[in-house]
Amino acid sequence: MLYIGSDHAGYALKEKIKAHLTAEKITFEDMGVHTEESADYPAYAEKVGRAVAAKPGDRGILVCGTGIGISIAANKMPGIRAAMIYDDFSAKAAAEHNDANVACFGGRTQKIADVKRWIRLWMQTPFSKEERHRRRVQEIDRLDKRVK
Ligand code: RB5
Repeated sequence: MLYIGSDHAGYALKEKIKAHLTAEKITFEDMGVHTEESADYPAYAEKVGRAVAAKPGDRGILVCGTGIGISIAANKMPGIRAAMIYDDFSAKAAAEHNDANVACFGGRTQKIADVKRWIRLWMQTPFSKEERHRRRVQEIDRLDKRVK
């Protein structure tokens, strides 16, 4: 499943992303917000993060004003590798190098035409089979367990 969430500053872009996913016949679950009323982004990072971390293979998309705060919050949760995507190269590398299971975008800084392309790149690029990338992601998993 693909989970999607945002704060108020990401709401408008989230709605455009939802329209794009629907047009592409990609199933998703919207975990809020549902209005532009002020909302704290960590709560929505947590909703999507908990859902994604619960089942290997599930993914999330998070949007705040810049994509920064919501990615910082999401990355506090074990099992979450949230990538702040900002160009074609980072969209592809987030999947290929980092096996990012959450993609973060900025509602106040990014345009839907770019975000659509970046989502496609992130979703369609497989995680590298190269040992060095796999090893680095395993090191991230170990940080989840050993850093309190
Ligand atoms: C909300 O005003 C804004 O700070 C938030 O959406 C986000 O950009 C934080 O990183």
